[in-house]
Amino acid sequence: MSDLIRVVDLYKTYVDATSEDITTQVEVLKGVDIEVRQGEILAIIGKSGVGKSTLLHLIGGLDRPTSGSVFFKDQNIYAYSDRQLDRFRNLEIGFIFQFHHLLPEFTALENIAIGGLIARKNVSETYGAAGKILNYVDLADRSSHYPSELSGGERQRIAIARALINQPKVILADEPTGNLDRKTSDDILDLLWDLNDRLNQTLILVTHDHGLAQRADRMVHIVDGRIANQNQIVDT
Ligand SMILES: Nc1ncnc2c1ncn2[C@@H]1O[C@H](COP(=O)(O)OP(=O)(O)OP(=O)(O)O)[C@@H](O)[C@H]1O
Ligand SMILES: [Mg+2]
Repeated sequence: MSDLIRVVDLYKTYVDATSEDITTQVEVLKGVDIEVRQGEILAIIGKSGVGKSTLLHLIGGLDRPTSGSVFFKDQNIYAYSDRQLDRFRNLEIGFIFQFHHLLPEFTALENIAIGGLIARKNVSETYGAAGKILNYVDLADRSSHYPSELSGGERQRIAIARALINQPKVILADEPTGNLDRKTSDDILDLLWDLNDRLNQTLILVTHDHGLAQRADRMVHIVDGRIANQNQIVDT
């Protein structure tokens, strides 16, 4: 079976457009290659600033690479038009961001439903689905709460719920347990693993936490802009 996702020779250099000084360029990714199978749980680890979030955003079509390709089901997503890329991002990928980015002026239920509305799905069906997902993350009684009225762990569960609304093939999770205590973070991970188990969702997660990474089917380390060989791996 072919891989669901293939990252090939990916480069990303950030350029400060307001400066002509070459030293303001930041070469972050320098030839990353990764393959991910359908249903796999892959952990990406590496030091702060090494480019983990950058890589995750590129896998999900949130940004464009300096060069290189990301294949999803053998299609290079960076050969897509902006419109096709939007569609890919909306329908195939569920993002759980490092700083969950819930919309403060919308309730928990609305935050979950938004992705379905953006994809122009039927409104009442979308709210129905959002309600079911809210149940699944065990927050049915917080439906009409605003993010400012939720705890950190509850916000993170809403962020996971939001990622599920369009039943994406792939979940990209950036430090999904970031600042949470051990118990809450274990609950969040159980939720993610359960999703993978029940829906055969592919999960790519970025973490600092070696213990968490070891629960994954596989882990890759980013060192100096690339996937490291085993012998390059020092403490991250
Ligand atoms: N939009 C941007 N413009 C310029 N530089 C950027 C931009 N985004 C990220 N960077 C730089 O690229 C590098 C990689 O950033 P990235 O957020 O991918 O790191 P990370 O591995 O996710 O770090 P952390 O573990 O702290 O979240 C950092 O040095 C960062 O300062
Ligand atoms: Mg990051």
